[in-house]
Amino acid sequence: MTILPITTDTEAALERACEVLAAGGLVALPTETVYGLAADATMGDAVARIFEVKGRPAFNPLICHVSSLAMARRHAVFDATAMRLAENFWPGPLTLVLPFRPDCGIHGLTVAGLDTVALRMPGGFACDLIARYGRPLAAPSANLSGRISATRAEHVEADLGERVDLILDGGPAAIGLESTIVKTHGGAVELLRPGGLAVEDIERVTGSPVTRRESGAAAIEAPGMLRSHYAPRTPLHANATTASANDVVITFAGRRISGDEHALMVLDLSKSGDLREAAANLFSYMKRADACGAGAISVVPIPATGLGEAINDRLARAAAAPLETEAAAHDD
Ligand code: TXA
Ligand code: MG
Repeated sequence: MTILPITTDTEAALERACEVLAAGGLVALPTETVYGLAADATMGDAVARIFEVKGRPAFNPLICHVSSLAMARRHAVFDATAMRLAENFWPGPLTLVLPFRPDCGIHGLTVAGLDTVALRMPGGFACDLIARYGRPLAAPSANLSGRISATRAEHVEADLGERVDLILDGGPAAIGLESTIVKTHGGAVELLRPGGLAVEDIERVTGSPVTRRESGAAAIEAPGMLRSHYAPRTPLHANATTASANDVVITFAGRRISGDEHALMVLDLSKSGDLREAAANLFSYMKRADACGAGAISVVPIPATGLGEAINDRLARAAAAPLETEAAAHDD
């Protein structure tokens, strides 16, 4: 791991960061809110490493950072309200959750299989880096899961150390609080996470009150955690040891289960048994399996170590029937 200051030799820092990102590596970088742990948002393997390095027990969808409104619009669909917010508050501490353009290149793991994407345009060095790199960067806060967000390069080093390839030191983060996350619904703006941009500032621009989710089952900060988001229409059996004739089998490391010779299709999450590769393939394989009219999707047991914990978490959600309240929240 290398630590590079961004102020003394900005050019060298930009160049090195682009090399690391293009090679699928992880770069901790300063933004105005907090330090981000960034990877190329289009590379499933690199994004899987983010979850691994942070020790996240589950695949939350990640914020994709862009360097311009034009780049943002290539990846998501903006309504008039979203446009006004972007024009007023970007670059800055505002994240917009928007419908995702399916073929835009952002990897399914980045958005955790959702049909929305969280986009933010940071300012300063982060913006220059993304502009130079040319593709969006997926970046959660650069801290271990469950720890406080890193607002200085030293925090990143203490938390993540050798697990990241490059730490860019830009001094203390100006805002030090994560971005405000909102979702637009026509003219209405819904607050998903309070953060560095005050709700009052948003209301001044839109001229109408920002709505908040009521507390209770629907008030889940990350809709990506809703079980119904992960439930395919086809019944899914996790930890399957047998398959029926009309099933799709999702396997791991070449494992065979009884009856799989009569399966409709067998998909291997990682032939070599690499959990990082398996994580990167999970959401897309579940979608493929769901699309082919199988009787059931049978998934072999996946090791529970490392990224396997998050894979098993997602499979358990997919196997569970959606709850009523979650289905309602999901409809909006
Ligand atoms: O300031 C920030 O927002 C920092 C810097 C690095 O940009 N990033 C950050 O990311 O705080 P993270 O991963 O710690 O938080 C992202 C939040 C999570 O709560 C996640 O569930 C939510 O954004 N999120 C991402 N995509 C979403 C989506 N499509 N719908 C709803 N929530 C989403
Ligand atoms: Mg965080």
